[in-house]
Amino acid sequence: MRSPLSSQPIEFLGSFPDPQVRLEPPLPEIAFLGRSNVGKSSLLNALVGRRNLARVSGSPGKTTLLNVFRLSSLYLIDLPGYGYARASHSDRAGFAKLIKGVLTRRTTLTGVVWLLDVRHPPSREDLEFGGLLAERNIPLLVALTKVDKLGRGARGERLRDLAKALDVPEEQFELTSASTGLGIAELGESVLAATAAEAQ
Ligand code: GTP
Ligand code: MG
Repeated sequence: MRSPLSSQPIEFLGSFPDPQVRLEPPLPEIAFLGRSNVGKSSLLNALVGRRNLARVSGSPGKTTLLNVFRLSSLYLIDLPGYGYARASHSDRAGFAKLIKGVLTRRTTLTGVVWLLDVRHPPSREDLEFGGLLAERNIPLLVALTKVDKLGRGARGERLRDLAKALDVPEEQFELTSASTGLGIAELGESVLAATAAEAQ
């Protein structure tokens, strides 16, 4: 099964520093949130079935603006990663401000895909941004990333533990791997469903 998002034409719209930038024409918007190096750009590429659309970096902290991609029926927004330890204090503060601006003030935002590395417990910053998401109360999908790095037996248990730690229902989780394609089509279906609910 292929991701339904891979059958839509796609274009890179641009990189924007303003969390409230207006996108024309208005379409549902899905933002990708997660700590630096969690695999946001890789997951985005996998979802749209393009190898190198969003930039995948060996050196983390490379996505510093809102990178916006337009499909026929929606926008995908690649957010900067939070928590990059080696970024300067002022850079980190700048990324956090931009992300918070999107999560709290961007009225056109339809939903969020929140990425967490399946192998690690949530970080302090994960929990902080999770708090903002809970307050905002918009459709949320949690993508657990890099699942190929974990044995099959451990996967379900990690999902249950993380669902508990984040206080998000298990149904909103997807076990994913950009490397093997695990869960990508399912996540694509859920993203489309979230934008379809918006359009009604
Ligand atoms: P920033 O933009 O720097 O915040 O990073 P990012 O969250 O966009 O992560 P990116 O997609 O650049 O991936 C970071 C690293 O993890 C790269 O070396 C990827 O190849 C690797 N990676 C991403 N997804 C997977 C996955 O599903 N499995 C494995 N094994 N590695 C992955
Ligand atoms: Mg990235």
